[in-house]
Amino acid sequence: MTATTKVSRPNDLSAFWMPFTANRQFKQAPRMLVSAEGMYYQTDDNRQILDGTAGLWCCNAGHKRPKIVEAVKAQMDELDYAPAFQMGHPKAFELASRLAQLMPGDLNHVFYTNSGSESVETALKIALAYHRARGEGQRTRLIGRERGYHGVNFGGISVGGIPTNRKTFGTMLGGVDHIRHTHLPEQNGMTRGIPEHGADLADDLERLCALHDPSTIAAVIVEPVAGSTGVLIPPKGYLERLRNICTKHGILLIFDEVITGFGRLGAPFAVDYFGVQPDLVTTAKGLTNGTIPMGAVFATDTIHDAFMTGPENMIELFHGYTYSGNPVACAAGLATLETYEEDGLYTKGQELGQYWEDAVHSLADLPMVKDIRNLGLIGAIELESIEGFPTKRAFNAFLKAFEKGILIRTTGDIIALSPPLIIEKSHIDQLFGTLRDVLKEID
Ligand SMILES: Cc1ncc(COP(=O)(O)O)c(C=O)c1O
Repeated sequence: MTATTKVSRPNDLSAFWMPFTANRQFKQAPRMLVSAEGMYYQTDDNRQILDGTAGLWCCNAGHKRPKIVEAVKAQMDELDYAPAFQMGHPKAFELASRLAQLMPGDLNHVFYTNSGSESVETALKIALAYHRARGEGQRTRLIGRERGYHGVNFGGISVGGIPTNRKTFGTMLGGVDHIRHTHLPEQNGMTRGIPEHGADLADDLERLCALHDPSTIAAVIVEPVAGSTGVLIPPKGYLERLRNICTKHGILLIFDEVITGFGRLGAPFAVDYFGVQPDLVTTAKGLTNGTIPMGAVFATDTIHDAFMTGPENMIELFHGYTYSGNPVACAAGLATLETYEEDGLYTKGQELGQYWEDAVHSLADLPMVKDIRNLGLIGAIELESIEGFPTKRAFNAFLKAFEKGILIRTTGDIIALSPPLIIEKSHIDQLFGTLRDVLKEID
């Protein structure tokens, strides 16, 4: 087989152990995507599938964007790889500067990773090492939130709060605790946008401070909008309150912006959208429009500068990845940022927000729909579970939707939608028109 041979119908599916997939189900009835452009995927049986999920919340500018494709090709021709330890290449610095300019406040320093999970591990490690660097090494506890998703590595599942992602993997990190999640369906059910009730749930952090003593807590990590658990929008005033409690007790606040970053809410970051300034921000996904694996952790001047002491020949932070700042990823990142700016994608969630919100909530009359939530270009439709078979109804919807030409994502019995930000009204009509048919047809 030559390097250019197209493999669209492999005849053996057994070797690839697929991630977060019902492997046996998939391999009996594979769903193969073979190409993509703009808002659509194409399947191996030549069907067009409308992308309702931007891949996995990552292809914010849609697929096969010429500028990104060209940048990656050109970079491969020029410099394929350069060591990131004790060596540099220009694009890593250029991208970091542009990212720092884009991020509000003094989150001016960028540490590169290769994924959201690695960004989370990196941020947690920076938080611990920061406190130690400034003589508060007793701050070793990490606080997450119930229902949080912070990737799949050990730090991430320890602070994460999704039971299925934790229960089979032993005891995880010690010294971790969780504040309560913010889902209040009785008070906030069917809310459009930001829910009214629940800011006081942030006070749960005070409970953990009282229990552990705040002087033992290094950091709190939350998703500004919880995505993978099925889209939980923070109640009005909640993030501000969390910020205030962290500040009061000298605890670092980490925003995991792996899905909210790069325009998802109608602003470059959730930091802009909510006007709340954390100490560390984790990103990935949209950073390269999903094309080349890359993540970035943003740190404030204060955090960064705390490390810049001691002899100048010494490594300040004993952390990094072989592919941190990979040149091809950096080229993809630079071209992605230009594409977002040229296409005005950072504000697309504002422009289309009302149309999107109306479309998501138009499904409220369907009998199996239990709750609907939305913000920016995110939507979630929570279904009543089939008694005794949790997750089955949403999975049936996913299969039927794929048959009918739309890609949706499900978690538990919740359908989560997060389309590429290039979406237009006609696509929104197609997405929700088809989804309505799907929900009418499934059991
Ligand atoms: C908030 C959040 N953090 C971390 C991750 C993990 O990212 P990755 O799958 O790139 O490791 C995700 C992925 O969905 C995420 O939504």
